[in-house]
Amino acid sequence: MDFTEVLKSRRSIRAFSDKPVSQAILDEILLEALESPSSSNTQPYKLAVATGDVCKQLGSELLSKYHESNKIQKQPLPLKIISAITSDALPDSDYKPMLGKYPPVFQERRVATGMGLYETLGIARKDKKARDEQMAQNFTFFGAPVAIFVFIHPGMQHTALLDAGILMQSLMLSATSKGLGTCAQGALGIWRSPIDKHFNVPKDYKLVCGLALGYPEDNKVNSYKPKKIDLNELLIPTK
Ligand SMILES: Cc1cc2nc3c(=O)[nH]c(=O)nc-3n(C[C@H](O)[C@H](O)[C@H](O)COP(=O)(O)O)c2cc1C
Repeated sequence: MDFTEVLKSRRSIRAFSDKPVSQAILDEILLEALESPSSSNTQPYKLAVATGDVCKQLGSELLSKYHESNKIQKQPLPLKIISAITSDALPDSDYKPMLGKYPPVFQERRVATGMGLYETLGIARKDKKARDEQMAQNFTFFGAPVAIFVFIHPGMQHTALLDAGILMQSLMLSATSKGLGTCAQGALGIWRSPIDKHFNVPKDYKLVCGLALGYPEDNKVNSYKPKKIDLNELLIPTK
């Protein structure tokens, strides 16, 4: 694949085959991503790479947190309050999710993208159960054999977030160039404790995002190509 082809063919993959990713390929992808630029070359990030049994265990722990927290959401208020004190399923993310607080233009794009995904899957807008099941798949990494958790050092403020984003794009493009697929997953930032259980994450590092990685499965969900904005929406006109 030439570079343009890699850029154009990368799409978020939400169904992975169980074909394992060899350690050699995984190392190649990680080493290529390390070529990324970063602010003053500070490289203020760390990755927790889950494979094999660790990946499976993390998937099942995150999924049970998701189901448990969904149950809590459905409880009447008094029980919800009790659960908030007693349950360990409440989000323990380092960065609060911004659900429901999107500025209108971004909310519109977000909804259109979500609806397009459900349409590809044949899930009706009102089918809350099917949508929930699709959402739940985030937590088992859509079946990917590798889950990567991205941490940053908050001492580097916004530059750390930029640098982590660039690192993630390098991981995604490198993987694509080798016939693998990826999905960046903000959803994997909702619960941090399961990752701490399996990895010695330095306490001063914050979890920002996850990334599923593996070989794409032949599945209609992977055919979804959400619309991108036009150049005129990207570019700021001169005065
Ligand atoms: C920071 C970030 C977080 C994301 N979080 C999720 C997620 O939690 N679950 C998911 O299915 N997709 C997630 N995505 C994928 C986006 O939905 C996807 O990139 C977008 O719809 C554009 O589609 P494309 O990647 O196929 O071009 C995320 C992407 C980014 C960059």
